[in-house]
Order: sequence, then C-alpha cells, then structure tokens
Amino acid sequence: MSELMTHRGFRMIRGIHLPHEVDQILDLELRDSDVFVVTFPKSGTIWMQQILLLLESKGDLDSICKEDSLNGQLVPWIEVQGKVQEFVRAKSPRYNVTHLPFHLMPQALRRRTGKVIYVARNPKDVLVSFYHFHKMVHMLETPQSFEQFLDRFLRGDVMGGSWFEHIKAWFSHKDDVNMLFLTYEEMIQDLQAVVRRIAEFLGADLTQDQLSSVVEHSTFRNMRRIPRANYKHVPSDLINHEEGNFMRKGTIGDWKNHFTVAQNQRFDEVFQQEMKDFPVSFIWDV
Ligand code: A3P
Repeated sequence: MSELMTHRGFRMIRGIHLPHEVDQILDLELRDSDVFVVTFPKSGTIWMQQILLLLESKGDLDSICKEDSLNGQLVPWIEVQGKVQEFVRAKSPRYNVTHLPFHLMPQALRRRTGKVIYVARNPKDVLVSFYHFHKMVHMLETPQSFEQFLDRFLRGDVMGGSWFEHIKAWFSHKDDVNMLFLTYEEMIQDLQAVVRRIAEFLGADLTQDQLSSVVEHSTFRNMRRIPRANYKHVPSDLINHEEGNFMRKGTIGDWKNHFTVAQNQRFDEVFQQEMKDFPVSFIWDV
C-alpha cells in the first residue's frame, strides 16, 4: 500500500496528515498577525522558517537557540497531525508553514486576515531535491529510479500533489489575500533584498545591522551548521542521515546534473502544456 493518500485534492502522507484535522483548517479563525509560508515541498520551507524566527528575534541567533524547541516546532506545518489544535492555542504572532493547496487553507485569508508568503522554485530543481529527500526519509517510498520518480512528479503522484496545480491555484488568488510572492532563485541571488522585502511585508522594524544579521544566519553555509534549523535532530528511525544532508546543495540548476536530454524534453512538454495560460515567466526561464 502506498504511504500516500488523496484527501480533497491534497496528496498527503497517511498517519502524518489526518483528514479530519486537515478539514478543520478551512474554518480556523485568524488574527492579523498570523503568517503562513506556503510552498510546494522542497522549495525553501525550512529556509523561511529560519528567516521568520530571525526576523522575530531581530537577528539574534542566540535567543532562538535558547528555546528548547526546534525551528520546525516553532514554525510548524499546520497540516501535520496535532498542529491545528496547537495553532488555536498559540500566542501571537503565529508563524506556520504549509504545503496545502489554496482551497484547503483558512477562508479568513480571503477576508485579508493574516498574511501569506508563497515561495516558488524551479520545478526541475524541486524534483531533484525531492528525489534525494525520498531516499533519506523512511516514511516516503524510496524511488526505484530517477526516471520513475520523474514520472510520479509529472503525474502529481508525490506528497503535495501536482506542482503545477499548486502554483497555479495559489498564484491565481494572489490578489485575493495578503500575499508576498517570492522565488527560491531570488533568495539565492540576493538574500539581503528578499529579507528586506519580507521585513517590510510583515511590518517588522529592524535596523540595517539587524537585517544583516538575519541574512548572515540564514545563508546556506551557516544554516548547515545549525542542527536545530536543518533536521539534524530528527531521529534516525525517521531520517537516514547517512544518505546525505537535508541541507543538500542549496543551489540553482542542479537538475542539469540529473536530467537526460530526453527527460528534459519530456518535462518541458508537460510544463508548457500545464502552464500555457500562466501569466508569469519566472526568473529560472531566463
Ligand atoms: P536542495 O536539496 O536542492 O539542496 P524544503 O525546506 O522546502 O524542504 O526545501 C529544501 C531545499 O532547500 C533543499 O534544496 C535545501 O538545501 C534548500 N535550502 C534550505 N536552506 C537553504 C539556504 N539557507 N540556502 C539555500 N538553500 C537552502
């Protein structure tokens, strides 16, 4: 039996995501200070967890490290088992991440309560990152081959569902909710500028030095050294740490080291078909 199941259009992991809890998210009451980072898996979720925590602490890494909880607990995935109840009880500001599609997120967002930061990434790099992640994480089926995983990804038969549907639905509602739309590639190219935009969007008042400190502690090189930020504390019965690092490469264009010419062509055909009415060309197209 597959570890995945589909619930109301969301491809989710049995036991990690519970249908009745996912259903409760739609009617959650929100506060203006609530922030949801929305990503398709492998698009920079834990990077944004780190940035939000650093913005909240005004760039003070030590104050985050003093907390007992890991970043993934301080900025949890709202759709994961038990997190909805925690969300209701949590004090403000409530920061969460999610891979949910737009139609399962709190309706209050459409009344412009709370904020959304959507991070998109070149789907070819998402696919490669996800492929390696499947090899590390025990709860996800190890792919038989890269080719087989590519098929699954293009069919939307992976956790999170179809990359294409995810971004199209979220982007089409970008003006209906308070949303900042970012790409992983912009973050790689100019992290300082992106952090400044996030701070402005959240109304976070930081000095230049504090902003620089946020950037400094969220670079790939530095985050890799902080176990609490990058899954190093996840027990080895869940993640096989010997298969590699969760913070794997952190680069743009690693897909070129994985795709054959034929696979790339197939991917492009599906991409063009799926995205033909999408109004934006991304920086990774350039
Ligand atoms: P790679 O596997 O390509 O290295 P998510 O958190 O959504 O699961 O995304 C994981 C991807 O984000 C991984 O990509 C990981 O290395 C990358 N990532 C995490 N923190 C990063 C950072 N500070 N800078 C660049 N990439 C980062």
